[in-house]
Amino acid sequence: MTSFYDEKVVIITGSSMGIGKSLALLLGKQNAHIVLNARNEVKLLATETELKAEGCSVISCIGDVTKEEDCKKLIDIALAHFGKIDILINNAGISMRGMVEQIPASLVSTIFNTNTIAPIVLSQKALPHIKQTGGSIVFISSLAALRGLPLISIYCASKMALTAVAESMRIETKDHGVHIGLVFVGFTKSEKEKTVLNSEGNLTFLGERKGIFYNGISDVAKQISKNIKRRQKQTVVGVSGKIYYFFSKFFPRLMELIIIKSQKQLNRLSK
Ligand SMILES: NC(=O)c1ccc[n+]([C@@H]2O[C@H](COP(=O)([O-])OP(=O)(O)OC[C@H]3O[C@@H](n4cnc5c(N)ncnc54)[C@H](OP(=O)(O)O)[C@@H]3O)[C@@H](O)[C@H]2O)c1
Repeated sequence: MTSFYDEKVVIITGSSMGIGKSLALLLGKQNAHIVLNARNEVKLLATETELKAEGCSVISCIGDVTKEEDCKKLIDIALAHFGKIDILINNAGISMRGMVEQIPASLVSTIFNTNTIAPIVLSQKALPHIKQTGGSIVFISSLAALRGLPLISIYCASKMALTAVAESMRIETKDHGVHIGLVFVGFTKSEKEKTVLNSEGNLTFLGERKGIFYNGISDVAKQISKNIKRRQKQTVVGVSGKIYYFFSKFFPRLMELIIIKSQKQLNRLSK
């Protein structure tokens, strides 16, 4: 039986763990050729080995998407190994914790370089090739892109900017048969090694997230895959995500009151 992803060449940034890795496995099992990417060589090669053991066609490109030369390398490796690019999934991202007044400019740059500028630069480089295949460019965003939230302001801002980029690109590429997808992911279960940047700019472990409140990683991957197959403009992941999206869009003042209330409760609980 043929699958939508048969022989499709898919670049997934930030795919050594988490959502990117799960997506790589999902699409790889459906006969896509996967180009993995992340900075940590050991972890990335371990993921490559895992995917190969599952019978996936996969190649790794160790690189930092905030470096333009590494973005170029990622495109070059995909073309050299597989001869074309069908799908680019801009997944690599980093979150942070801290109040606006605490955050140094260097940390603001790191967040924007990773979450906003890197997807723009990589999409620019991939676009000429994706125009040839009529494929997809997908931006993995967050429910945090819908409104500013306390303690993750810069993350919210960096993901909000992706909405504008996706909307602009969608209009600009309308006549080229390119699909531009935007996926709003909510709180998702995470691996023990997941890190976020604290207000000093140091990586700290987030701690394992589990429980029914969180989306399953593989469920998020399935939603991203569906966004690509159906060439959807945007996808809001999960029922709780859709409820959050609805209230943020149509009842913004109520949403703010709820956030303030839950913020106070969280502060009380943490004392
Ligand atoms: N998990 C959630 O709750 C959640 C919620 C909403 C949105 N999202 C979004 O979903 C995406 C994936 O999140 P996740 O939780 O699966 O992430 P994760 O588990 O923290 O994994 C991040 C991946 O990105 C790579 N990475 C980070 N910076 C990079 C860089 N500069 N260049 C290349 N690779 C880089 C990491 O590997 P190296 O460190 O080795 O480079 C790793 O493979 C992100 O865009 C995130 O903002 C996640």
